[in-house]
Amino acid sequence: MEEIQELDILSKDDLAGIEAQTDIHLKKLLSGVQFYRESPISWNFSDIAPYIPPRSSFLNTSIIDTTHGIRHILRVMIYSNLIAQLLGENSTPAIVAAAWHDLRRQNDFSDKEHGERGFSFFYANKALFKDKLSDFEIDLVAEAIRYHDNKTYESNNIYLKILKTADALDRYRLKNEPGWPKLERIPLKEGIKFAYLFHNFTLQTEYSFLECKNSLCAIKKHLDIVGGINDT
Ligand SMILES: [Fe+2]
Ligand SMILES: [Fe+2]
Repeated sequence: MEEIQELDILSKDDLAGIEAQTDIHLKKLLSGVQFYRESPISWNFSDIAPYIPPRSSFLNTSIIDTTHGIRHILRVMIYSNLIAQLLGENSTPAIVAAAWHDLRRQNDFSDKEHGERGFSFFYANKALFKDKLSDFEIDLVAEAIRYHDNKTYESNNIYLKILKTADALDRYRLKNEPGWPKLERIPLKEGIKFAYLFHNFTLQTEYSFLECKNSLCAIKKHLDIVGGINDT
């Protein structure tokens, strides 16, 4: 594969700029919404730990620590877990879809085929989940991965809706893109209630990464914001 060296790494100044922009936007977005100031659910990190993808599963290993790398994937897994539990859905398919959704990215920018590549990659490895997911759930997860970045594809697949919602609620980390989260990219309106909590978690974990230079450590440091217990 040709290695593409387009990387997107945030600095402290980038994060401060994003924080100032999103502060104004969030106040407007959440006015009149009963949003969560603390997590309505407490959960254990060991619930998601078995599904964390290994480094070798990334198509381009040079983006593991950038804006679409492992911190993004871990946050989308955590957000999907919370949303699925809140909706009373089985959280395992939601966690798996989040874990695999961006693994086949070539770069941090416009990579329109990464959903399709992720879909093929997941199907090729579906035997990994034969004891965890039913055949029907495998199909739902595969569809969610395939279409997560498609703005027009319509489906009642709850795991696609959860993934799109969780993915959109982590988009504060993108510089030069003010106005996130955008309501039209959030199919589950329940998800809006998490906007404040997820905003805090995304930014705090990005700040921490600049200090500790270790993605897993940065995520684990702030689990309490989203109701997580570090039990691993
Ligand atoms: Fe994606
Ligand atoms: Fe994503």
